[in-house]
Amino acid sequence: MTSAAPTAEGRKHEFTTHSGADTIDVGRRLARILRPPQLLLLKGDLGTGKTTLVKGIAQALDAAEPDEVTSPTFTLLHEYDGSLDGKPVKLFHLDVYRIEGERQLETLGLEELLTDDALVLVEWGEKFKSIKKRATGEIEIASIGGDARKITVTLKD
Ligand SMILES: Nc1ncnc2c1ncn2[C@@H]1O[C@H](COP(=O)(O)OP(=O)(O)O)[C@@H](O)[C@H]1O
Ligand SMILES: [Mg+2]
Repeated sequence: MTSAAPTAEGRKHEFTTHSGADTIDVGRRLARILRPPQLLLLKGDLGTGKTTLVKGIAQALDAAEPDEVTSPTFTLLHEYDGSLDGKPVKLFHLDVYRIEGERQLETLGLEELLTDDALVLVEWGEKFKSIKKRATGEIEIASIGGDARKITVTLKD
């Protein structure tokens, strides 16, 4: 179900899920792999499960319950305080779909978010060069028929 193999782009992990609950579970497992500081592009079509995955990550970090994690579509940025192995983790969940350009993006102050204890997850971050440039990896979710999803995590090292 999962594999971690070094490739030209970095370390790769792959998962297949068959429900939202499954994807939350993968998020919980990913929380242990995604060591801060990390800025990840969260890629995938609308409704593939990007926000759902963040629910699991937030839960495993004791940062928020799945119900409390909602889409930052209009608020742009949600911030949660969590911890992993006794160390504090700041979880930032962004959705930049509605941001018009680099100028508007600047008002978010993304570069200030990436502190040593930060895990920054950005939906639609690939729209912006400045975000892609700072990304330490990506999580791509693809629908593979019905409720099935393929989740590919690539971490640069
Ligand atoms: N395997 C799956 N993984 C994730 N979500 C799924 C899956 N199967 C069905 N769903 C449903 O698809 C929707 C995904 O929504 P959401 O996470 O908000 O997507 P996105 O943030 O990518 O737009 C949820 O309603 C979820 O319950
Ligand atoms: Mg979303």
